[in-house]
Amino acid sequence: MTTTQMAGTDAEELQAAFDALIAADQRIEPRDWMPEGYRKTLIRQISQHAHSEIIGMQPEGNWITRAPSLKRKAILMAKVQDEAGHGLYLYSAAQTLGISRDEMTAQLIDGRAKYSSIFNYPTPTWADMGAIGWLVDGAAICNQVPLCRASYGPYGRAMVRICKEESFHQRQGFEILLTLMQGSEAQRQMAQDAVDRWYWPSLMMFGPPDDASPNSAQSMAWKIKRFSNDDLRQRFIGMLVPQAEILGVTLPDPELKWDEDAGRWHTGEIDWDEFREVLSGRGPMNAERIRHRRDAHDDGAWVREAAAAYARTQAARGQREVAA
Ligand SMILES: [Fe+2]
Ligand SMILES: [Fe+2]
Repeated sequence: MTTTQMAGTDAEELQAAFDALIAADQRIEPRDWMPEGYRKTLIRQISQHAHSEIIGMQPEGNWITRAPSLKRKAILMAKVQDEAGHGLYLYSAAQTLGISRDEMTAQLIDGRAKYSSIFNYPTPTWADMGAIGWLVDGAAICNQVPLCRASYGPYGRAMVRICKEESFHQRQGFEILLTLMQGSEAQRQMAQDAVDRWYWPSLMMFGPPDDASPNSAQSMAWKIKRFSNDDLRQRFIGMLVPQAEILGVTLPDPELKWDEDAGRWHTGEIDWDEFREVLSGRGPMNAERIRHRRDAHDDGAWVREAAAAYARTQAARGQREVAA
């Protein structure tokens, strides 16, 4: 047998072992061999997800000092802090695939990496905190619950904890809107206005329609993704409709109705041009979000330096103790 033939057999065996694990619904772990495409897809998806959590702190962080009571402030602060934690679990999961945290951060702040375009919309009123929790965290849950079963172990496990916290986020948003809807006419209008602005962008969070989503099939074959974009969007709408009724808000889609024959929700046309504009960096807040993140990174340089210096002293002390 020549060396080329041997290498060929090895590669086939590795691929077969990987395929068998996927077929048996087993987890792929960092120690396992995996196809380069699988690794690259996961690095892209998990780092984008981590960036979204971190950038997603900004639209709500904007309201922490202005929340209408101490209780609201404490809840919002806990929520925004959870999002920081989500970012950290996800960066750690991505690091197991061989990319460093520094590289991911560099990709984000110099504009090479994407994050969820939903965070490029502004938050002008307190009701936006309600609409984000209810709609944005609600869409995140629909997207993320199936990811708890993603074939890559560290990703799936990170998602389990994240999903528990997301469901608290969604309820706190719903409760903000419910309180406003039980308030004055001006408060009810403020809540409805926020729902009007966030509803369509939240539907876009599931990504382009299935027939325009070229990478979905491969991600489903690898069992990273379990349901198609359109199926998840349908599930989300099904969750929102009865909740909107309880809140007393109107979902801003006059065409929205249950289509009995098709067995699915009929909706108005989603404005995919807007989606593409925001995704390509021309949304209302893209530049500000990245500028803010870059400033925070620069301002935090001394913390990173201090942590590294501390780690060096600890390591040196450890060595001295071993020598003694
Ligand atoms: Fe989150
Ligand atoms: Fe959240």
